[in-house]
Amino acid sequence: MRRLEGKVAVITGAASGMGRTTAARFAGEGANVVIADLNVEGGESAVRECKENGGNAVFQLTDVTSETAIKAAIDRAVKEYGKLDIMFNNAGLAGALGTIEEVTTGNWDRTFAILLRAVFVGIKYSIPEMRKAGGGSIISTASVAGLRGGAGPLPYSVAKAGVVHLTKCAAIELGPQQIRVNCICPGGINTPLIHQHIPGGEPVARQVLNTIQPIPRAGTGEDIAGMALYLASDDSQWVTGTAMVVDGGLMAGGNLFGGGAASPFSVGAKWSGPSFEKE
Ligand SMILES: NC(=O)c1ccc[n+]([C@@H]2O[C@H](COP(=O)([O-])OP(=O)(O)OC[C@H]3O[C@@H](n4cnc5c(N)ncnc54)[C@H](O)[C@@H]3O)[C@@H](O)[C@H]2O)c1
Repeated sequence: MRRLEGKVAVITGAASGMGRTTAARFAGEGANVVIADLNVEGGESAVRECKENGGNAVFQLTDVTSETAIKAAIDRAVKEYGKLDIMFNNAGLAGALGTIEEVTTGNWDRTFAILLRAVFVGIKYSIPEMRKAGGGSIISTASVAGLRGGAGPLPYSVAKAGVVHLTKCAAIELGPQQIRVNCICPGGINTPLIHQHIPGGEPVARQVLNTIQPIPRAGTGEDIAGMALYLASDDSQWVTGTAMVVDGGLMAGGNLFGGGAASPFSVGAKWSGPSFEKE
């Protein structure tokens, strides 16, 4: 028996990176998936990949800064597949870059709209559908940057810390309704988010990410998809309110990113894109 047989999932940011890998994995486990993303080409090819893996999928053009668009993605799941069991709030980017003095309040707000408000909205509109289905699993992508300072641009890190706390607070409210709420805190995962704007691109990113944590290889989308599958499946029936760290041991300690403000992920980092400032 496949682990998500007959379940219905919405995944935001599923056109690329870990969201896409997770969509393909869920489909391979029997799920029906709504691919919700801004990226039409990537979204449509993710749908093909899900189908090749033996599941059903549709693409729903979604900008997660829009409350209406997130609700429409959830409505699409219900219209196509009859219910909603799994909501994966995953879309994201690096957001506003620069020092505190450089970051504008407008770019701070936009970062929070994508990385935190969208997660709130995704949870908000999942609740009535999951209640009808008798329960469900809400998963959001936070980051190790939300657990400690200096592991990402400042607005990004603060927004991700918000995702961790939102997860705990929502889990308390929704536990009695059999709706579980968890988040995943990835470490350095070799996706376009990391390598798109690094001079030298993917090979350079891989080289950096191979060395920053105790397990000497970069994280992959599969590493995150494995945790998302666990949280989505009935194997995690009694797991809620958690921030699952998937980081090759990065948070265990050691010399994070070589340490200090010189870290490419830290103060004023200019290359940990994509960022809407770079579009
Ligand atoms: N890559 C890492 O090392 C890492 C580490 C920790 C957390 N994360 C988080 O993982 C999540 C997925 O990122 P990824 O690494 O797979 O990157 P990615 O760039 O490969 O994928 C991000 C996806 O989000 C989509 N997206 C961005 N803004 C959107 C919007 N406004 N509306 C809808 N879709 C939007 C993009 O189109 C893209 O398909 C993000 O939340 C990111 O912050 C990544």
